[in-house]
Amino acid sequence: MSHLPEKPFTRRQMLTGLGSSLALSVLPHGVMAQTLQPTKQTRPIIMTPQAGKAPLMEKGLPETAVWQFNDQVPGTELRVRQGDWLHARLVNRLKQTTTIHWHGIRIDNKMDGVAHLTQEGVKPGENFEYRFQLPDAGTYWYHPHDKSWEQVARGLYGLLIVEEKNPPKVDRDLAFALDDWWLKADGQLDEASFGNIGEWAHGGRTGNVLSVNGKPNADIFVQAGERLRVRLCSTANARILQLRIQGCEATLIALDGQPLSVPRPVTKDMLLPPGARADLILDMTQNPGSRAVIAETSDLRVPLINFRYHYSEKRQGKAYGDVVALPPNPLAAPSLTPDQKVTLDMTGGAMGGMAKAIYKGKEMPIGELVDKHKMIWALNGVAGMPEKPLFFAKKGQTIEVRMLNNTAFPHVMHFHGHHVLEVKRIRQTRKGRKTIASRDDWRDSVLMDRSEEVTVTLVADNPGKWMLHCHMLEHQAGGMMTWFKVET
Ligand code: C2O
Ligand code: CU
Repeated sequence: MSHLPEKPFTRRQMLTGLGSSLALSVLPHGVMAQTLQPTKQTRPIIMTPQAGKAPLMEKGLPETAVWQFNDQVPGTELRVRQGDWLHARLVNRLKQTTTIHWHGIRIDNKMDGVAHLTQEGVKPGENFEYRFQLPDAGTYWYHPHDKSWEQVARGLYGLLIVEEKNPPKVDRDLAFALDDWWLKADGQLDEASFGNIGEWAHGGRTGNVLSVNGKPNADIFVQAGERLRVRLCSTANARILQLRIQGCEATLIALDGQPLSVPRPVTKDMLLPPGARADLILDMTQNPGSRAVIAETSDLRVPLINFRYHYSEKRQGKAYGDVVALPPNPLAAPSLTPDQKVTLDMTGGAMGGMAKAIYKGKEMPIGELVDKHKMIWALNGVAGMPEKPLFFAKKGQTIEVRMLNNTAFPHVMHFHGHHVLEVKRIRQTRKGRKTIASRDDWRDSVLMDRSEEVTVTLVADNPGKWMLHCHMLEHQAGGMMTWFKVET
């Protein structure tokens, strides 16, 4: 990560940096966000983005000026049952236009919240009604899709949990939004770095402080023998979180909201790229008095979620059996013989050697792209939204998308309104091209390392105009975006 600019270290990192052992915070933090439980279509949930303050750092340190939904970071945790409707009214109290995008939901296109594609940005002081059905159970989130590189980085996001009709038996179901902030020594956002083209051209704007549901970390008190369902969501703009779980038995049961067909034990560090979700079952298998932790192990190296076993008490009652798969969501299986095959060539960025690209229908050299339009990345030679979609699909067609990362950075390609299945992954190694076994996991975003080639398929069964972009939000803003159209 040598491209990381120098960032002032805050006191918090010194307090909680991982030494030889995992340092545990002594401050108990509440972990549950305010929870609303809408059932059927009743009164709307009011969602108000506005400026405010959030206690991102240790108690006693100054609060951070942020933008937030309903006066909290993360915003109101929404919990709905699968198949129910959600009715939310966006009331814009920002000084700029905004929207709400419901990330990962196979949603009615009009409700997807993408400014300039599915709706116009909602002006300051104005409202917008979002009303849609939730077809899939799982862990999702919401965030603005209008200048998201700034609005998400300032704190506008929240969790959206869609509960199964028969959820698996656990002692507790906990959801955590993990975020990455760039704070100055005074605890305030480094605003000068917003829009910094150097960051856009490299790995995106990564920060120096992590948060768990808007706090430096979370302390969860457990008993030996407990089983927890832990939902993790990365709301970071650009950092790929690397998570290590110790002191309990972890089993992965869902990714990006969609159940794994076979749950997998977590045996090594797990990557959680921007926007991704992972649902875990954690079995507290150690003795009373033990500790367990979910820690970040990329360059920041901090404990995020601390589980403290009660010193003597054990969970009473029948022991849990093996972790079983969640019921699958109603996703259509792609055909083995795709109706269309398209290629997505990703270029640009620092050390990418891109000489020119088309922007708003006009070809221009890289200097002009960068200096005049802040465009630094391109998909199929086009920087920013192309006039024509990547593909038109008839409803129900299987589309194969072959994505080539011809850049010097990893990217996380996010599909709107659909989930995709990876069918092929080829990695460039010193010994040449190597095919990596693909998992049959449904994802709404696909992490691709530099020089990797990944082929995915999807069933284009949701009519409308859908975005496809890098979820490293500075890469999206810097040109890495396109769209596709599904006809009715
Ligand atoms: Cu989470 Cu297009 O976004
Ligand atoms: Cu990217």
